[in-house]
Amino acid sequence: MDVTISNAVKYIGVDDTTIDLFESQYVVPEGVSYNSYVILDEKTAVMDTVDKRGMEEWEANLLNALDGRKVDYLVVQHLEPDHAGSIARLVELFPDVTLVGNAKTFSMMPQFFDFPLEGHTLTVKEGDTLSLGEHTLTFVMAPMVHWPEVMVSYESTEKILFSADGFGKFGALSKTEDDDWACEARRYYFNIVGKYGAPVQTLLKKASSLEIATICPLHGPILKENLGYYLDIYNTWSSYAPEDKGILVAYASIHGNTGEAANRLADILREKGAEKVVVSDLAREDMAEVIEDAFRYDRMIVAAASYDGGVFPCMQDFLHHLQSKAYQNRKVGILENGSWAPTAAKAMRGVLESLKNVEIAEPVVTIRSTLKDSDIPALEQLAEAML
Ligand code: FEO
Repeated sequence: MDVTISNAVKYIGVDDTTIDLFESQYVVPEGVSYNSYVILDEKTAVMDTVDKRGMEEWEANLLNALDGRKVDYLVVQHLEPDHAGSIARLVELFPDVTLVGNAKTFSMMPQFFDFPLEGHTLTVKEGDTLSLGEHTLTFVMAPMVHWPEVMVSYESTEKILFSADGFGKFGALSKTEDDDWACEARRYYFNIVGKYGAPVQTLLKKASSLEIATICPLHGPILKENLGYYLDIYNTWSSYAPEDKGILVAYASIHGNTGEAANRLADILREKGAEKVVVSDLAREDMAEVIEDAFRYDRMIVAAASYDGGVFPCMQDFLHHLQSKAYQNRKVGILENGSWAPTAAKAMRGVLESLKNVEIAEPVVTIRSTLKDSDIPALEQLAEAML
């Protein structure tokens, strides 16, 4: 893996290939990286630390890069424990270090740490600069580009944007060198940052005035080429515009009958010429992957069994995820199944109607227990409405 940045800017992050669930909720089959960097100039600055799971390896990387020097500054761009987890160790190693953060950083820091901050902090605000010698950092506030204290840093000599969680992705660097970037970056973005489209848009506007040669995120690869691609795709994602034309058919089936109906509907959509149809079984597939697809495509069909006077729980869970991630600007079709009193459509519609600019396609289709030939015309009608 190529983590070379420059003579003065070194990667000191670590891969985590043994974590079971990132943030205790996301499967990461190829692990995740906690990125950290050090700038070696007249003064030295560490750009964030790593999760305590990687602390020992990070410390070795740091000491190796420092080659006997001390750390003058630790820039804390984000206090979430996957990045701040080794701050206390850095303070222990270098008691004279100055912590650089904004007012929010330092108001939150005592919630995580009990070392004394007095005399060891430099509070920065939008546009403030910190000279390290030949390198100068300019701080750009990015509140809610995941947490309220988040800021990014622009180093103007080498034109490096240290982008915090922005442009991050799942996947350990050692395991994903040849992987397509967007796949796991998209799953990461919509599940972790998705709710905060407006703050990301604000940050992108600020970034558009900077000449950027390299993006150094806190997860995933360092981006050095074709940066317009990454900035454009982030603009699409954060504006809640669909990335591709296509229809996600997400189903929640108890005994397989609703799944059969959903798959039949998908076949009808394909026969009628849908550009792309993706079918997902909410009971078995990675929820984060289905959320990603919901945002990726411009249309979605939700198909679910009725359950306890409402909707089968994995569909309820899915819709509430979409609600909390601010799913919007899409067309959605509804298919329900019920054996005695169908209730799934009402429950699903209730959540969908709370979303911004979500158009519900008509007709809403109800099947009873199993799909029958007599149901096909209604499926055809719904398919037509979705095309
Ligand atoms: Fe990678 Fe919001 O922490």
